[in-house]
Amino acid sequence: MRVWDFPLRLFHWSLFISIVGAIVSVKADVMWLHERFGLTILGLITFRIFWGFLGGHYAQFRQFLTLPPIAFQELKTILKPKPKTKAGHSAIGGYATLALLGIPLFMAISGTMSNDDVLFEGPLAHLVPNGTDAASSSHRIGENFLLFVVFLHFSAIVFYKYKHKRNLTSAMVTGNADDVTVRSVDGSISIKRKFFGIFLMLVFIATAQSILLLRPSLF
Ligand code: HEM
Ligand code: HEM
Repeated sequence: MRVWDFPLRLFHWSLFISIVGAIVSVKADVMWLHERFGLTILGLITFRIFWGFLGGHYAQFRQFLTLPPIAFQELKTILKPKPKTKAGHSAIGGYATLALLGIPLFMAISGTMSNDDVLFEGPLAHLVPNGTDAASSSHRIGENFLLFVVFLHFSAIVFYKYKHKRNLTSAMVTGNADDVTVRSVDGSISIKRKFFGIFLMLVFIATAQSILLLRPSLF
């Protein structure tokens, strides 16, 4: 059955590539590329927020954002040897999703106001002359939180693979899950909505990239 719609999968793998790109480029000191990747992440996450209201059934926030006691109950079920499998994020996975979206969003916003103590400044750093150092240090500290949630994300995927023999990754690649045992709603969307999603994603990425135009010219 269809779980993840195409725009959501495109978003996910683009986010993965852009985060790897942002980290590799900053370590290689290629700052122009770092800010391009970072702004792409800003556009992608803005898209994802909208898609949480406009996307397919399992992309919608109301589908996976639950109250903590429900998430806690579900966590106990997941730890059982043979839990029932449902489509979409688990309640605890919903919280993980918030962190996997929130931390990169924080990184991208603080990055636009950061400076590297030498020559490079984010495009909005001139707007917050007194806050750029605080933005830079929180941007740097944010890296540890980001690496930590990504580590938890991988651990959860490996846990499902070995403990429950569920391959969640193939569902995020193909959009389909064949191991769902609870009757579930189909997550497909129409072709029109698919194109609308891709278009929306491109508009947000382009808008985020255009933040660079706000950098003051040196000449
Ligand atoms: C920088 C690294 C990554 C980040 C920031 C990230 C972020 C996310 C986010 C935000 C979601 C929630 C999807 C949504 O509803 O928007 C998600 C889900 C998912 N990701 Fe990743 N991801 C990363 C890498 C990976 C990799 C490398 C894999 C595969 C090996 C992967 C597999 C999955 C799977 C299978 C799901 C769906 C989980 C479920 O069934 O609830 N992710 N990821
Ligand atoms: C999720 C997106 C982002 C990630 C994961 C990220 C990651 C990082 C990391 C890890 C560093 C510290 C490098 C080091 O000291 O080793 C850094 C520095 C920096 N980043 Fe980003 N960044 C992101 C987005 C952005 C954006 C959008 C901009 C600007 C448009 C930006 C501008 C900067 C600047 C100016 C620095 C130097 C400040 C410093 O030395 O801490 N970043 N970034």
